[in-house]
Amino acid sequence: MEKVVAGVIGAGRIGKLHINNLKTNQNVRLKMVSELFADDLQEWFKDSGVEEITKDYQDIFEDEDINTVFICSPTSTHADLIKLAASYKKHVFCEKPISFNDEETLEAYEQIKEAGVKFQVGFNRRFDKNFQEMQSRVENRKVGDVHVLKITSRDPKPPHLDYIETSGGLFMDMSIHDFDMARYLVGSEVVEVYAKGAAIVNPEIGEMEDIDTAVITLTFDNGALGVIDNSREAVYGYDQRIEVFGNGGAIVADNETATNLKYYHSNTVEIDQPLHFFLERYNESFIRETQEFVDSILNDTETKVVFKDGIMAQRIAMAAKQSNDSGKPVKVNHEIG
Ligand SMILES: NC(=O)c1ccc[n+]([C@@H]2O[C@H](COP(=O)([O-])OP(=O)(O)OC[C@H]3O[C@@H](n4cnc5c(N)ncnc54)[C@H](O)[C@@H]3O)[C@@H](O)[C@H]2O)c1
Repeated sequence: MEKVVAGVIGAGRIGKLHINNLKTNQNVRLKMVSELFADDLQEWFKDSGVEEITKDYQDIFEDEDINTVFICSPTSTHADLIKLAASYKKHVFCEKPISFNDEETLEAYEQIKEAGVKFQVGFNRRFDKNFQEMQSRVENRKVGDVHVLKITSRDPKPPHLDYIETSGGLFMDMSIHDFDMARYLVGSEVVEVYAKGAAIVNPEIGEMEDIDTAVITLTFDNGALGVIDNSREAVYGYDQRIEVFGNGGAIVADNETATNLKYYHSNTVEIDQPLHFFLERYNESFIRETQEFVDSILNDTETKVVFKDGIMAQRIAMAAKQSNDSGKPVKVNHEIG
């Protein structure tokens, strides 16, 4: 294959971001985008770098030039679109999470395996240079045996209530990135989850039977423990900090800021706020995740975030929800048959 010929499904926040990153990739031809509200996107489309726009994703599947599909529509559509892509033998990049349901996800997994196409799930944080270096040092035993993983992951403000309604809830939509980071950094499966959540940022989120704040305790197969704290609103910006602590030391990843300056004056010392949100903080990782996905297709190598990673993060999210609902710790099955 000389080039990845891409079709993108869904041109919302994340679809537009991937298109914008892919349009400068010499190895990619952006052939088509499908979007329900295509009529409203004509202005954006003109400069998008995509050749055609359609309202019907079937046009993407039936286009014989297109060999790769980027699924960027809402989560409820993902599993069916993955299965369709497998039936048309197209490679798949799918945004997180794969679905809200283990059975659906496993069905999609089987079909992708059978089709023999490449698959990558959108856990972009694995492509962040700091977290990659952290993972490599943990793997090389720079902290010895891992005892505790601590993740602080707080958004600057909650998304629209319309988004929350279809998001699958905080654990499935937001904490899922942290669950993936936990598995990635510790290098061991999560076997038990104990989660407590609350709607204290916005009571309307509570009325939707969702939460906006959570503390989650993880137990790993290798005996390590983890704690994640999430909030949908940190007034000072996007708060993304991680520590891995073990019997040989600790490694800390702090927030990214626009500059590393400290300003000393008569009352206090100031540093920059964290970068505003995921588009700013993880920009580089978004660029690299699709770049490396394209490379794995062209070089016929395994993708960096495989189907199992999507399955496991989703199971941890489901266990966290069950734990929060029941008030009890919940075991996580990591067999995928
Ligand atoms: N990796 C990340 O950090 C990250 C960040 C944001 C969102 N996401 C994921 O990306 C997905 C989309 O989220 P978003 O924030 O871009 O949502 P969004 O609502 O901004 O965009 C989704 C778009 O898909 C379109 N759409 C819906 N059904 C469609 C269909 N059948 N065919 C074509 N288009 C269709 C909608 O009209 C909308 O424009 C979700 O699964 C979400 O979890 C991932």
